[in-house]
Amino acid sequence: MPTPSNMTGKTALVTGAAAGLGRATALRLAQAGADLCLIDIDSEALETTAAEARSTGVRVLTQAVDLAVAENCHNAVTAAVEMFHRLDAVCNIAAVFIPCHAAKMSTADWDKTLAVNLSAPFHLIQAAIPHLLEAHGAVVNVTSCAAHQGQAYTAAYCATKAGLTHMTKSLAMEYMHQPIRFNAVAPGGMMTMLAAGIRTLQDADETLLKRYSPLRGVVEIEDVAEMVAFLATDAARAYHGACINIDNGITAG
Ligand SMILES: NC(=O)c1ccc[n+]([C@@H]2O[C@H](COP(=O)([O-])OP(=O)(O)OC[C@H]3O[C@@H](n4cnc5c(N)ncnc54)[C@H](O)[C@@H]3O)[C@@H](O)[C@H]2O)c1
Repeated sequence: MPTPSNMTGKTALVTGAAAGLGRATALRLAQAGADLCLIDIDSEALETTAAEARSTGVRVLTQAVDLAVAENCHNAVTAAVEMFHRLDAVCNIAAVFIPCHAAKMSTADWDKTLAVNLSAPFHLIQAAIPHLLEAHGAVVNVTSCAAHQGQAYTAAYCATKAGLTHMTKSLAMEYMHQPIRFNAVAPGGMMTMLAAGIRTLQDADETLLKRYSPLRGVVEIEDVAEMVAFLATDAARAYHGACINIDNGITAG
């Protein structure tokens, strides 16, 4: 596994930093020396991550906001640049996963899934682009193996992850000749609160759910965090428009 280069004196913005992969990525980037702007809707758990990151000696700005609101995304980037005077990396990790029979999904749940998983990364990227260009920085979008295979009961989630993958590639094309990189990481199942959401589903056809069970076991959160952090740093200078699967073979066939 490639390792991130030194981020001392650089700043990374990480969403979903209160839990799971976002938290692990924030701590990995802190270990690499990055100052951090950490965002999550869960203010209490976000402060716990921030305290742990600060104990490594880096500076941390926390923003407990709902990323489903576009204005919050733009304001978050502004606040990060006001505090740190630069922005080198944006890691879009926050997401919601609302398993549901398609015919029963509420418009509110559909809209929320699109807002958090797809629109928020776009708004954050849009606000960050001028600063990332200045810093020769990078965007890392966390998608999912669900971007590459249809999965029952999660049509909205799958659509957002496929959309985020294609958004990553489109931005990589648009900025082919400028000093900014766009990449994506597509994990398979990790043991987090998000994955536990599948247990809320009633009357599911188990034979369909078994199709996404990893034959080689779940993916370790730290393994994915290592890749996200690597792509955020200059060590990944040759990566642009890539979507890297870390899924223990789920998408192999
Ligand atoms: N866990 C898995 O099995 C799995 C598999 C593939 C991809 N992923 C992806 O990995 C990423 C991280 O997922 P995770 O498993 O760590 O999930 P998680 O639920 O542990 O963490 C997601 C974080 O996002 C935050 N969040 C949710 N809605 C928000 C909002 N509106 N505004 C701000 N913050 C919000 C949550 O509070 C939470 O802290 C997601 O993009 C997810 O789609 C996860």
